[in-house]
Amino acid sequence: MKKKVLVTYKMPIEGYSELLKDFDVTFSKGQSFTEEEVMEVIQDYDVLLSMFDFKVTKALIDKASRLKIVSNYAVGYDNVDVDYCTEKGIQVTNTPEPVTQPTADQALGLLIAVSRNIALCDRKLRTPDGLKWGLLENLGLSIYGKTLGIIGMGRIGKAFALRARACGMTIVYNNRTRLPLDEELFYRATWLPFDELITTSDCISLNAPSTPDTFHLISEREFGMMKKNAIVINTARGPLIDEEALIKALKKKQIWGAGLDVYEFGEKISPELLTLDNVVLNPHTGTQTFEVRHEMSVIASQNIIHFFEGKEPVFRVNQIGE
Ligand code: GLV
Repeated sequence: MKKKVLVTYKMPIEGYSELLKDFDVTFSKGQSFTEEEVMEVIQDYDVLLSMFDFKVTKALIDKASRLKIVSNYAVGYDNVDVDYCTEKGIQVTNTPEPVTQPTADQALGLLIAVSRNIALCDRKLRTPDGLKWGLLENLGLSIYGKTLGIIGMGRIGKAFALRARACGMTIVYNNRTRLPLDEELFYRATWLPFDELITTSDCISLNAPSTPDTFHLISEREFGMMKKNAIVINTARGPLIDEEALIKALKKKQIWGAGLDVYEFGEKISPELLTLDNVVLNPHTGTQTFEVRHEMSVIASQNIIHFFEGKEPVFRVNQIGE
């Protein structure tokens, strides 16, 4: 009998063509299944293909008596109780490769949009009053020659570093573990202690996963330490920034601005952020390209296919059964 796969979010079917050959795949008819809907049927499925905003909780796992693998459609897996999956012998996989470059593009796009007032000027030009033109109007900040501090020098952090270097920026980074010397030389990136990175960077980019250790990594204390014209970019996960502290810093013009693709409370953006001109907001679209959505579906499928063929999944998150 074919193994049963539940896909929590509606996606173009083409990306799943390999999976559809040998698996019985259920897609949601609407945009996505709710947690309640998944709860009702999960006991009949061998595989859950979950999107990054779908919570795979202990309660859900307890209901999922046949579940063998959670193939998460994302690089981040903070939505999955990985420890409990491991305890239950359930494989968890993710899709890091396709999301690396587009997320780095998004970070660079946000940085330029914030530093050069691109979104703000666009917005004002469309209003009946327009905006004032002039050589000393709408002044932004150059990024050439400035220092980019990357917190989390993994795949995406490194991809952003290469783009920023091409823009003439100096790269510093903070990671729990330092990169090997040859990598530091390749990215021309200098490791700095966290506080030193915060005080010396012109732009700070968050590229670390959301874990208890990174919760509110940037809060009132850090905003107070930043340069007056600092820019903060978050394309990682919302809870890394204390959103209330960010709003205070933006309102007081304690920093130049921020570019955000993710929010502390998910889609519930703090209303005050929507009123501020020194922040550029995107709706978690860091990986939102036609190409990437397709590639993510292919990798999420390959993870499942390899797992049931007894091969190493393309991208494994946890080790089971050893
Ligand atoms: C997107 O946020 C991802 O984790 O892939």
